[in-house]
Amino acid sequence: MTAHENKTAQPLVHLGITRPDELSALFADLRGRFDADCASAYDESSWRKFRDAWLGRKSGVLAQITDNWLKPATAELKRAVGASLNELRAHVEAKIEERRAATEASSEEAALIKDRVDLSLPGVIRPIGSRHLIQQVFQEIEDIFFSIGFSVVEGPEIETPYYNFEALNIPEFHPVRDDMDTFYLELPKGAPTPLLLRTHTSPMQIRTMEQQKPPVRVIVPGKVYRRDNPDATHSFMFHQVEGLAVDSDITFCDFTGTIEYFVKQFFGPSVKTRFRPSYFPFTEPSVEFDVSCPFCGGTGGSNGSICSKCKGAAWIELFGAGMVDPAVYGFVNYDAKKVSGFAFGIGIDRLAMLKYGIDDIQVFFQNDVRFLRQFP
Ligand code: FA5
Repeated sequence: MTAHENKTAQPLVHLGITRPDELSALFADLRGRFDADCASAYDESSWRKFRDAWLGRKSGVLAQITDNWLKPATAELKRAVGASLNELRAHVEAKIEERRAATEASSEEAALIKDRVDLSLPGVIRPIGSRHLIQQVFQEIEDIFFSIGFSVVEGPEIETPYYNFEALNIPEFHPVRDDMDTFYLELPKGAPTPLLLRTHTSPMQIRTMEQQKPPVRVIVPGKVYRRDNPDATHSFMFHQVEGLAVDSDITFCDFTGTIEYFVKQFFGPSVKTRFRPSYFPFTEPSVEFDVSCPFCGGTGGSNGSICSKCKGAAWIELFGAGMVDPAVYGFVNYDAKKVSGFAFGIGIDRLAMLKYGIDDIQVFFQNDVRFLRQFP
C-alpha cells in the first residue's frame, strides 16, 4: 500500500490536520505522487489499472478522499477540502484522458509497424507449372494448321451413336464397330437415345458440316475413349486431332500436299512421307499415312544395329485419313456432286511419343513431375 493510499484511508483529524492552511501541502503531495504514477500507464491495460486506482468509484484515491477526508471534515475544513478535491479531480481527469490518448496512439502505431509491408523485401516465389506435353503438341499442330487457313472447333466428349457411327457411314452391326466397342453411359429408362464416350473426334466432321456450309477447313483437338487395354502404345483415354477440308474443288493432291506440309513442319524438312491403302467407312479412298522413321533417318538402322523405334522398317505409321466418302455428305445435306474434301485423324499421344522419343504412352497420364519437368 502506498503512502498516499494510507493517508487517504484515515480521517484528517488522525493525520493531525485541523486548519485549512494545512491542507495545501497534503494535496500537493498527492498531486506529485499522481504525476509520478502517470508514467506507469504506458499501454491500454496499465492505463485501466491507473485510472481505477485514482478514479475507481469505491476504492479509488479520490473516492477515499471524499469518504475519509471530506465527509467527516469539520465545518471549518469542509469547504477547503471540497475546493482542493475539485482542483485535484480536474487535474487527475485531464491527465488520465491525456494518457488514454497517448497510449491509444502508441498502440495504433505499434499495430501499423507490425502490419507494415516492406516492399524492399524479396517476394515469395511461387512455383509456376508448365503446360503438359500433350497440350504443347496440340498447340504446335494448331499453329501449323492456322498458318494454312484452318480454324479450331471443339465438340462434346459424350456423343450419340448417330454422330459417333451412323452419320459416319457406320451402320449398326457394321464390323468396324467391334474395334470401337466402347463406353456407354447408364441412362434412365426411356432416355431418347443411348450415349457413349466418343471413340474418335470424327463425329465433329458431321457436327461441323451440319453447322457450316462449304468451304470448311477445321481441325478438332480433343479427348477420345476406347475399351483398349493399357500398354506402351495404348490407353483407354487418348487424344486426337481431327482435320476436315471440304470445298467445291478439293482434290487428292490438295490432300497429300496439306498432310505433307504439316508433317514437314512438325518433324522437320528431312522426313519423307508415304501413303498406304487402308479402310475407313467415312473416307474413300482411305489411307494410312507413314513417315520415314525420324530416329534412324529412314534407314531402319545403321552399323548392323536395328532401329528400336521402327523395328528396322524405316517407316512409322502416323495416322489414318482419306477423301470424304460421298455417302457422308448425304447425312449433312451437302450435294455430293458439287463438293469434295479430305479428312484425317491424328493420334496425338503417339505423335508426341515419336517426336520426343517417349517409349511408353502411360507416362503422359502418371503425372510424375520428373517426366513433366523435362518439357517446360
Ligand atoms: C480413327 O480414329 C479415325 N477416326 C481416323 C480418321 C479420321 C480416318 C478421319 C479417316 C478420316 P484410328 O482408329 O486408326 O482412326 O485411330 C487414329 C489414331 O489414334 C491412331 O493412328 C493412333 O495414333 C491413335 N490411337 C488409336 N487407338 C489408340 C489407343 N488406344 N491409345 C492411344 N492412341 C490410339
